[in-house]
Amino acid sequence: MPNGILKGKKGIIFGALDNQSIAWKVAEYAFREGAEIVLTNAPIALRMGTINELAEKTNSIVIPADATNTEDLNNLYTKAIEHLGGKIDFVLHSIGMSVNVRKGKQYYEMNYDWTLKGMDVSATSFHKTIKAAWDLDALNEWGSVVGLSYIAAQRVFHTYNDMADNKALLESIARSFGYHYGLKKNVRINTVSQSPTITTAGSGVSGFDGFFKFADDLSPLGNATAEDCANYCISLFSDYTKKITMQNLFHDGGFSNMGMSAKVMDKYMRSIEEK
Ligand SMILES: NC(=O)c1ccc[n+]([C@@H]2O[C@H](COP(=O)([O-])OP(=O)(O)OC[C@H]3O[C@@H](n4cnc5c(N)ncnc54)[C@H](O)[C@@H]3O)[C@@H](O)[C@H]2O)c1
Repeated sequence: MPNGILKGKKGIIFGALDNQSIAWKVAEYAFREGAEIVLTNAPIALRMGTINELAEKTNSIVIPADATNTEDLNNLYTKAIEHLGGKIDFVLHSIGMSVNVRKGKQYYEMNYDWTLKGMDVSATSFHKTIKAAWDLDALNEWGSVVGLSYIAAQRVFHTYNDMADNKALLESIARSFGYHYGLKKNVRINTVSQSPTITTAGSGVSGFDGFFKFADDLSPLGNATAEDCANYCISLFSDYTKKITMQNLFHDGGFSNMGMSAKVMDKYMRSIEEK
């Protein structure tokens, strides 16, 4: 299905850890659509993951950057522009981590040092990523920045803990910076609110299998896969979506507008009858 819709565009992709990562698929599809890309991840993730394999596949280089560190981000943009031979047209921020979630804490048991760390990595890093580009004037006119979110920003998912707050902040940053960067340079900034997806970060949430299955049963189109998400991101990087900005875009097979489905109701009633 490649149509070359990113031909001539240059991008930076944050967050490909292994071939399950959403960012991994986005990198593959961006390359397939004709973009030239640079990959980046936190130095520690580069040691743990398999990003070099992706770099080879997508004819790209890897520039390490901790997305919470402005110096690293400045270095990333400077080197990426040098390597790609021009300013950047699109950025994918595909980053999330909560120490509270990792340690299995409940919302009412938060350790605030961990909360601050998780907020910095999962949400403030989005602001830092955009601000570094702003300060260096690293993005081209009509550039596109996409962050990945989850519907826990709007609704309660009982074990999602502080990641719910982090996603709410992430979506707010897309709106606020989207206003300023839109005025300055017609840069558009959006978040994509993705279905539960089987990845390292996703599977780290307690009860993930249940969220995944429930969402799949409730959504008329079923869960959106990482591949579906990559296709959507590609469209947002392309010139076909130039006037979409400051939005949180649900990419979830219809889940966000559902209350009850026949499939979920049947299963629920059966489980009651069996008791
Ligand atoms: N998997 C899901 O169910 C799901 C659903 C909706 C949204 N999302 C979001 O999608 C995004 C990508 O997650 P994923 O599911 O592909 O999992 P993943 O674990 O493959 O990706 C998370 C990435 O964040 C990177 N990261 C962590 N700390 C960093 C730092 N300080 N600097 C730079 N990078 C850092 C990790 O190295 C990793 O590559 C996240 O924002 C996640 O919240 C995931």
